[in-house]
Amino acid sequence: MVRGRKIEIVSFLLLQIVVAATAANVTYDHRALVIDGKRKILISGSIHYPRSTPEMWPDLIQKSKDGGLDVIETYVFWNGHEPEKNKYNFEGRYDLVKFVKLVSKAGLYVHLRIGPYACAEWDYGGFPVWLHFIPGIKFRTDNEPFKAEMQRFTAKIVDLMKQEKLYASQGGPIILSQIENEYGNVDSSYGAAGKSYMKWSASMALSLDTGVPWNMCQQGDAPDPIINTCNGFYCDQFTPNSNNKPKMWTENWSGWFLGFGDPTPYRPVEDLAFAVAIFYQRSGTFQNYYMYHGGTNFERTSGGPLISTSYDYDAPIDEYGLVRQPKWGHLRDLHKAIKLCEDALLATDPTVTSLGSNLVASVYKTSSGSCAAFLANIGTESDANVTFSGNSYHLPAWSISILPDCKNVAFNTAKINAATESTTFARQAIKPNADSSEELGSQWSYIKEPIGISKADAFLKPGLLEQINTTADKSDYLWYSLRVDIKGDETFLDEGSKAVLHIQSIGQVVYAFINGKLTGSGNGKQKISLDIPINLVTGKNTIDLLSVTVGLANYGAFFDLVGAGITGPVSLKSAKSGSSIDLSSQQWTYQVGLKGEDTDLGSGDSSEWVSKSPLPTMQPLIWYKTTFDAPSGSDPVAIDFTGTGKGIAWVNGQSIGRYWPTSIARNDGCTDSCNYRGSYSANKCLKNCGNPSQTLYHVPRSWIKPSGNTLVLLEEMGGDPTKISFATKQTGSSLCLTVSQSHPAPVELWTSDSKILNKTSPVLLLKCPVSTHVITSIEFASFGTPKGTCGSFSHGRCNSPRSLSVVRKACVGSRSCKVEVSTRVFGDPCRDLVKSLAVEASCS
Ligand code: GAL
Repeated sequence: MVRGRKIEIVSFLLLQIVVAATAANVTYDHRALVIDGKRKILISGSIHYPRSTPEMWPDLIQKSKDGGLDVIETYVFWNGHEPEKNKYNFEGRYDLVKFVKLVSKAGLYVHLRIGPYACAEWDYGGFPVWLHFIPGIKFRTDNEPFKAEMQRFTAKIVDLMKQEKLYASQGGPIILSQIENEYGNVDSSYGAAGKSYMKWSASMALSLDTGVPWNMCQQGDAPDPIINTCNGFYCDQFTPNSNNKPKMWTENWSGWFLGFGDPTPYRPVEDLAFAVAIFYQRSGTFQNYYMYHGGTNFERTSGGPLISTSYDYDAPIDEYGLVRQPKWGHLRDLHKAIKLCEDALLATDPTVTSLGSNLVASVYKTSSGSCAAFLANIGTESDANVTFSGNSYHLPAWSISILPDCKNVAFNTAKINAATESTTFARQAIKPNADSSEELGSQWSYIKEPIGISKADAFLKPGLLEQINTTADKSDYLWYSLRVDIKGDETFLDEGSKAVLHIQSIGQVVYAFINGKLTGSGNGKQKISLDIPINLVTGKNTIDLLSVTVGLANYGAFFDLVGAGITGPVSLKSAKSGSSIDLSSQQWTYQVGLKGEDTDLGSGDSSEWVSKSPLPTMQPLIWYKTTFDAPSGSDPVAIDFTGTGKGIAWVNGQSIGRYWPTSIARNDGCTDSCNYRGSYSANKCLKNCGNPSQTLYHVPRSWIKPSGNTLVLLEEMGGDPTKISFATKQTGSSLCLTVSQSHPAPVELWTSDSKILNKTSPVLLLKCPVSTHVITSIEFASFGTPKGTCGSFSHGRCNSPRSLSVVRKACVGSRSCKVEVSTRVFGDPCRDLVKSLAVEASCS
């Protein structure tokens, strides 16, 4: 008996291995991707592997799977994989094979966007800057040197995936690959050569023989058999360029990216869910959240100009890897509802009928009797009650109801059944290393970075040089240095009046030092124009200009040629007489990068650290170092850089990216509660106006040891590092949810086989996200017409006196609870009104 069981288990395991390695045949037809002869409804999400750590990947992938995703989409980041020509890096955060295998292990598919142009708010759009120096090269056009490099790298990635048997055609998870990226948005700027390049890209990709389909996004004329796909906030209006291709959406922007100096964009989940639902309603079969987890632009990987270090994106999983609620949960419910419709959706094309102005029903009905319906109210103002197949349905403005059996509503995009979970950053002061005998306050040591030229490889050149051509992006920093001799009689020394130094730069940050003193600075995306009053002395004066890039451009036609740095003019003007001397064509001395970069101060190991007090603060160009113990607990860690100016930081030698808490979000266009109804755009819903764009910077837990960690900062503009602190991100200590009598019952109460609803009343479901927590108290409960939002709920005119006791009884002491939202449970405190139950609960 036991032996028989063993054999059974062994043969089951063997079967699993065989199944795992079995090649899948991926094709497509007008309706969907077809895997092993079966059309598929696929829900995908972007996770860019270098924007998190290999230690975070399994959890991110699991949370994606739990959120109802079938596919993980990622770009391949050429400049990360080939930082120097023919020197490859597939280690650590760039271990693409490991990432793809982890996705496979979780049972999900992969969409590999090889590009190799990525865009993605990534430095130089993902191109290695050394490409730019290949003689005769022109990017993204019909140019032999470029095409040769693009083909070599694309083939390299395809070969690597093939070697590891990662294409579905070999039994792996990759079901689709992308070549180029949104080239159709810019190709007209490249003329006829653009068209031939696009066709060449297509045939080059096909020649690599991956055994799975290729796509091009935003390329209306993508040649067969390449599938042209859509990117945008909505893609329901999109039609592929052939009747034989399925309607696919490769980037559904779940929020938007943050820039330094910008307010923080967010996208309400009701609108995101609406966009997804209407896409499937209108025959879409594959959509991808860009991003599902945005993550962090570590090191100098952020694109530009001025992309922030956080790439949170308001994605369903936040920068730190925690699910963002109710976004994640509401989308999970949406995915379940769509999947309940899968058979009907895939078997046929919809029958579309109007139910009134702005009201549309799409019905997918098969000959075998399955039926699924989507009812849409695309009006932005008024809710509607519609009659469909003899039944009446309430459709809020800008919402879609999904009826997997053409009768019962499983989901409405505007009616959220997932609780909001609080998140807080708990502050912890930097705890100095326990072993250190240093006193508190003296735990910082420093090294001053020389102002102006200090390195042996500095060089002279007449005129002002463009920065990227000069630094090759090896560093953010380029010194432009000049000595000017002022004779006693020059007008610049006129009594009581200063000279004015005029500087024009094309980005992104400039600091001007006169005779070793910081006298002015400025920053801008494309153009900086500074007029700095300065004091000159008779005789020799030094003008040291430090130009700093904050991410190279990543988007637009010819973005690779945009350039950066002090391209001039630079002149000295007399404030009094108005006369000026142009310094632009003088013999300037240049230094690429800083001395401390060459000696690798970021690693912390140098014998030059000075620990004498007082610690110099609020002075430009100082390297600081301290040691610290890991913040307690296991929650994700951030450093709050408030108190510092701008720079780059390293933890145990790993660069956590650029910090810039003094970059303030412009005070323009923010709203506390953004109306989700109506078309979304990148600046529709903004928050954080007037505050620093980013104060908190993610430090992955796996980079921190229990004790004896090193933190190094390179402070450019001047700040006080003793002000910085750690914060750990905690989630789920309080839950809030409002469910009305008109909500559908939670989709998880549907049984997928019979598609029969076992409960028709709406139900409020609460669950503490931390598995060891239980609901300890109910802070608020009201069945009636409660007002306010989470944290500020109050009773409305109508309130059932039983509210609190019913909810307490059902919930306190358990990790999760269900409360039926009905007058049967609460009595009827106000007849003829649609009532809601609002609850705020605490977990611990
Ligand atoms: C798209 C591009 C993506 C990303 C996105 C904005 O145009 O394809 O790579 O840049 O915009 O986040």
